Amino acid sequence: MKIGILKETRSNEKRVAVTPKIAQDFKNKGFDVLVEKDAGLASAFDDASYKKAGAEIVSKTTIFKDTDIIVKINPLEAPEIDQLKKGQTVISMVYHRLNPDLVKNIAQKGASLFSMDAMPRISRAQNMDVLSSQSNLGGYKAVILGADNMTKIFPLMMTAAGTITPAKVLIYGVGVAGLQAIATAKRLGAVVEATDVRPETKEQAESLGAKFISVENEDENISEGGYAKEQSEEFLTKQKEAVNKSLYNADLVVTTALVQGAKAPVLITEDQIKNMKRGAVIVDMAVEKGGNVELSEPDKIVLKHGVKIIGQTNLPSTLATNASELYAKNLFNFITYLTENGKFKWDLEDEITQKTLLVKDGQILTEL
Ligand code: NAI
Repeated sequence: MKIGILKETRSNEKRVAVTPKIAQDFKNKGFDVLVEKDAGLASAFDDASYKKAGAEIVSKTTIFKDTDIIVKINPLEAPEIDQLKKGQTVISMVYHRLNPDLVKNIAQKGASLFSMDAMPRISRAQNMDVLSSQSNLGGYKAVILGADNMTKIFPLMMTAAGTITPAKVLIYGVGVAGLQAIATAKRLGAVVEATDVRPETKEQAESLGAKFISVENEDENISEGGYAKEQSEEFLTKQKEAVNKSLYNADLVVTTALVQGAKAPVLITEDQIKNMKRGAVIVDMAVEKGGNVELSEPDKIVLKHGVKIIGQTNLPSTLATNASELYAKNLFNFITYLTENGKFKWDLEDEITQKTLLVKDGQILTEL
């Protein structure tokens, strides 16, 4: 089978779907690898390193003409879909509920489409889960970005000129990103607190050295398939009461709360921001999904009531080398899982295939 690796086209995207190391792994498994010219340049992988790994450097047109599988990180753009051939298979993030037309347009071409972001949260799919691998890096970067925008340091520092007390960091959402944010802030020496709707996260947060702020929840079905559900207004009010004291004392706040298939919950309102410390920084990791913070704006740093609110989107892309390495490994595990003897298995009974295969040979298999 021939795999084609496209160069990403979005303006703030520096990652690449397959690195030279993984190109070599595909070659070793018997795949031919075609890479669009300069596809890896923004993540520090030049064409020479792909060639050394046994890949061929080609034009975008050749990729669409000559390959069986086309891989990307972001969904195909309209001019790319135009070039798709019947029988080709595309693998990328799709966010199909947000992009139903994209799925329909790819189906019209008679192609097949797998979505990396639709991976089920089961243990055997863990090594193919790009949402986890990328959120992990995002959580790290959110803290670094926050630290860089603060006017204070993180650790306790005792000097002849006086003692500096450690920074106070508050993390909303103790999922993959939140756990890495806790670990990063702890390593830098901050005092960390965290909160989440899922009670099982208490132990996870505490094991990394954070103090957990529990919010009583009468609803027993707070999560489904690993994802938190939308919470009631009543719960969100209770949460604010429980967390406000920590919020008003915090130097850095990182919000990571997401709800699958819905807008991110608003966890910090303007009224709360007014009560925060001057010079405090908030990093809203959910800004692309509507935001956890009322005043955050995508790709902007805004100063409101003396608080800096950072809404940078696509944090993993700012760590493009590592993010590409992890995405590529997830993709390699996925493709080798789906294929056998140079062919797709199309095992429609298998949960991983069922959840990720959105279109098979032009037929849409998912609800849009
Ligand atoms: P996510 O990105 O969907 O959400 C981030 C966090 O925000 C979650 O912990 C969620 O509970 C929390 N949250 C949602 N609404 C909230 C609210 N109103 N207030 C406070 N917090 C709120 O979650 P993520 O990081 O993708 O993973 C969640 C869980 O799923 C993790 O515990 C992870 O272990 C599990 N998981 C399992 C996988 C597997 O087995 N293959 C793969 C990925 C995740």
